[in-house]
Amino acid sequence: MVCLTLSASRVGDARQDVRVQRRRVVRSSSLRGAVRGRAVRGEVRCSAASEHRIIICGAPASGKGTQCEQIVAKYGLTHISAGDLLRAETQAGSEIGMEAKGYMEVGGLVPDALVVKLVKARLAQPDCAKGWLLDGYPRSKAQADALKAAGIEPNVFLNLEVPDDAIVQRVVGRRMDPETGKIYHLEFFPPPAEIVPRLTQRADDTEEACRNRLAQHAANVEAVLGSYADMCVTIDGNRAKDAVFADVCKAIDA
Ligand code: AP5
Repeated sequence: MVCLTLSASRVGDARQDVRVQRRRVVRSSSLRGAVRGRAVRGEVRCSAASEHRIIICGAPASGKGTQCEQIVAKYGLTHISAGDLLRAETQAGSEIGMEAKGYMEVGGLVPDALVVKLVKARLAQPDCAKGWLLDGYPRSKAQADALKAAGIEPNVFLNLEVPDDAIVQRVVGRRMDPETGKIYHLEFFPPPAEIVPRLTQRADDTEEACRNRLAQHAANVEAVLGSYADMCVTIDGNRAKDAVFADVCKAIDA
């Protein structure tokens, strides 16, 4: 398998929360839509967003969601997280949600048929015409094959690599702000003191469930990467998030 690896050097102090400078995204109105990532008076002028069909893959808590937040701010894509789609179903108490819940709580993979159905339906929504960023899908060869069979192809495939020990640390310290959806880490990205009481922790963010999620990832990752070997860019995710994001942007803009 041919996978390009970007910047394996470990830099910076991951404990420092990096404030994301959200620059206003101006989409090119050009019919050709060919202007790419050009800064104009502090704004970012994106390429026609439909050029960007990105899949981001990585172990649990490798920082996919954290990077997606920054990618969406910069490139204006529609973010589709398979985990969020499934959590929405469980919260709504739907049939799919009730079936998925048991698998998710113990860190297992939800059966392919359920996830494929959800993701394909979401990708068919009109807001995906401007380009999309698929997070946490595919996680099996069958899921990758289902996308291909539906004629859905990414043009960028990002793979975040983080060692297992760092992953466990990230999982147990992760907290979410239910009001803004923002993800914090008690140690690495401490939340403002005033919002701490309202923060929530995911049911599967225990060390035990995390080990299961890691095992599932290890069992499937080679097959998934193999499905996108021609475009896969592997990035060292065990660095400060701005350093990771710089490599993510390089891969997207390449
Ligand atoms: P999902 O919600 O997708 O969970 P996951 O893949 O385990 O990924 P996470 O959301 O836990 O982590 P992340 O990579 O987004 O990291 P984050 O940015 O939050 O899936 C949940 C479950 O749903 C699965 O277990 C499965 O059951 C089911 N499921 C989902 N998709 C499926 C599919 N396709 N098929 C079958 N089943 C499926 O970061 C984590 C923490 O680290 C945060 O606290 C963050 O602040 C911190 N952090 C982030 N970046 C850094 C950094 N650079 N340095 C230090 N800390 C960092």
